[in-house]
Amino acid sequence: MIGTGPVLSPLPLLVIGTYDKEERADVMTAAWGGVCCSAPPCVAFSVRESRYTYENLLQTEEFTINIPSASFVDEADYFGIVSGRITDKPKVCGLTASPAPDVHAPMIEEFPIVLECKMIKTVPLGSHLQIIGEIVGILADENVLDENGDPVPGRMDPVLYDPMGKNYYRIGEKIGRAFTSGKKFQTTVYQL
Ligand SMILES: Cc1cc2nc3c(=O)[nH]c(=O)nc-3n(C[C@H](O)[C@H](O)[C@H](O)COP(=O)(O)O)c2cc1C
Repeated sequence: MIGTGPVLSPLPLLVIGTYDKEERADVMTAAWGGVCCSAPPCVAFSVRESRYTYENLLQTEEFTINIPSASFVDEADYFGIVSGRITDKPKVCGLTASPAPDVHAPMIEEFPIVLECKMIKTVPLGSHLQIIGEIVGILADENVLDENGDPVPGRMDPVLYDPMGKNYYRIGEKIGRAFTSGKKFQTTVYQL
């Protein structure tokens, strides 16, 4: 036993896009998040109620999840250390926040993958409130897609965050194939 705490590392770094009531774009970095349902396709992230992003979400109930590539790690970090209440964060970094086509929320054009989300549920947990969003659209830079139209992690080059050491990393090599690599241990054909 080494203690308690939200110890799970690495985590994909997410950038949440919202509009404020003056239709100004805000972007906030979030590490407490990920996929939470296959059908309907949903993602969740957790937000402190003090964030401008939370104030914006109460109004719009729609947001984007923008996945920065490693080349934008400094910009993504900046989005996590200043508030959109006082700063036009994308503009300061020279990035383009344009309206997402299917939700009332801004997207960062330079980031390779953007999930368009509609908030369907909130769960108060303590320090953070979990926001669950249904993914209603996925926008992708065609350079990160394979021949089937699926995003390739190596091409997306996402930022991985280690909350313990507070460092950023990028993904390494492929080491196996899901639902396949473990089959060598499968002697009987039944599922728990
Ligand atoms: C690496 C990193 C991860 C973060 N993860 C979260 C998070 O999961 N939830 C949260 O509420 N704030 C998180 N933050 C802090 C917010 O991004 C930060 O308070 C930001 O300034 C809020 O912006 P806003 O006021 O424009 O919404 C994180 C910051 C960094 C640098």
